[in-house]
Amino acid sequence: MDHFLYRDGVLHAEDVPVPRIAAAVGTPFYCYSAATLTRHFRLFDEALAGTDHLVCYAMKANSNQAVLRLMAGLGAGVDVVSGGEYARAIAAGFPGDRIVFSGVGKTRAEMRAALQGGIRQFNLESEPEMHVLNEVAQSLGMVAPVTVRVNPDVDARTHEKIATGKAENKFGIPIARARAVFAEAAALPGLKVVGIDVHIGSQLTDLDPFRQAYRKVAGLAEALRADGHRIDRLDLGGGLGIPYERANTAPPLPLDYGAMIKQELGELGCEIEIEPGRLIAGNAGILVSEVIYVKNGEGRDFAILDAAMNDLLRPAMYGAYHDIVPVAEPGPGIDRHRYDVVGPVCETGDTFARQRDLPPLAAGDLVAFRSAGAYGAVMASEYNTRPLIPEIMVKDDQFAVIRPRPSFDEIINRDTIPRWL
Ligand code: LLP
Repeated sequence: MDHFLYRDGVLHAEDVPVPRIAAAVGTPFYCYSAATLTRHFRLFDEALAGTDHLVCYAMKANSNQAVLRLMAGLGAGVDVVSGGEYARAIAAGFPGDRIVFSGVGKTRAEMRAALQGGIRQFNLESEPEMHVLNEVAQSLGMVAPVTVRVNPDVDARTHEKIATGKAENKFGIPIARARAVFAEAAALPGLKVVGIDVHIGSQLTDLDPFRQAYRKVAGLAEALRADGHRIDRLDLGGGLGIPYERANTAPPLPLDYGAMIKQELGELGCEIEIEPGRLIAGNAGILVSEVIYVKNGEGRDFAILDAAMNDLLRPAMYGAYHDIVPVAEPGPGIDRHRYDVVGPVCETGDTFARQRDLPPLAAGDLVAFRSAGAYGAVMASEYNTRPLIPEIMVKDDQFAVIRPRPSFDEIINRDTIPRWL
C-alpha cells in the first residue's frame, strides 16, 4: 500500500494534488511520501517484533537527507557503502552505533573516518580487507567491530546484475572458507568479531532463496560457536522485492519474511539486523513527467517525455518495468492506446517502455512512473547536460523541495578551464 491515489480525478501524493507540485517546481521531479516511507519501515520493524533487532535502512536506495532524517527519527539503523554515504548518515543524525558499513572495496580513508566518527560494525568482504582494517584500527588505538560476510552460493532468482549470493559473484567470503577466516579474524588485535553477515541479492520475489541462505548461516553460526567464537549478531542483508507490475506480481510481505527469519534463526538467540532499501523507498516515490510530443512513427506511436534515462536509469540498465499512469484519472471505459514511452536523450536506450497500453496521451499531459522512490534519484546523472531533477517530499497536505533543480550555470561552473588553455 502507498499514498499515491486518485482523488477527484487527479493523482494525489498523500493530500497534495500532483499538478500543484508540478506547477510549483516544473517537471520532471521525484516525489516521495513521508507516510509511505514511515509505514514501510514500521512493517519491517513490526515483522521482527519479539526478537532483538535493528532495521538498517540501505540508503543506497534513496539517500536524500530528508529521507534519512525521517528514518533516523523512526529509530532505524542505516547501511552505508561509501565514505560519502557514511557522511550522509552522520549529517542526517544517525548515531555511530546505528551505522553498519558494507561494500567490497572500503578504503583506508573510509575505515578511518568511520572508526573515528563511530560505527556499529564493518561487514568484511575479503581477507585483504580484514588485514587492512586491522592495521587501520590499531594505528588509531581502536578495535573495530566486524562481521564477516559469507557468500552462501545460493541463486537469488533475480536479475543477473543485482544477484550477489552465487559463488561467481564478487561478494563475501566463500562459506566453505568461513571457519578459517573467522579464526584468523579472532586472532587480530584490531578486530572484534561480532557476527555473520549475508546478502544474496535485490528484488527477490520469493522467500525460498532467503531461506536457503539463512539455513546455511544458521549451520555456520553453530559451527563457529563450537569453534569458540561469540556469534551474537546476524546481519541478513536486504533484498525483499516490490510489486513493480502491480497487476501481475505479489512478492512476499515483510511480515512473512520476518516470520521466516524467526523460524530459521530464532533458536540461535542472536540479535538480528536487516538492510532493506527498495521495499522501504521504492513504492514511496513517483517520478512525474510531462509529455512533450506524441509522434506517430512507422507502425508505432511514441510518447516523448521530458524525463529521460538519465533521470530514471532502471529501464535502460536492467530492462526494468515501471508502471506509468496518467496524472489525470482516465474516465471509465476510455480507449487504450499503445505507446513506446521514451525520453529526449540521443540514444535508443532511452526508452522507458515499449508498446505500453495507456489511455490516449497528448502534449502537456502529466504522467507518473510508479515505484520510483528507490534506485531512481540516486542513480541519476546529468548526461546530455540535463540537470538532476528536483526531489519533493510530501507529508499530509504539505510539500517541500528536498533537493532543488540546479541551474545551467551551477552545472557549467563546476567545470574549470586550465589557465594554460
Ligand atoms: N545490503 C547490501 C549489502 C546490498 O548490496 C543491498 C543492495 C541492500 C542491502 C539493499 O537491497 P534492497 O533491499 O534495496 O533490495 N540498482 C539496482 C539495485 C542494486 C542493489 C544493490 N545492493 C536496481 O535499481 O534494481
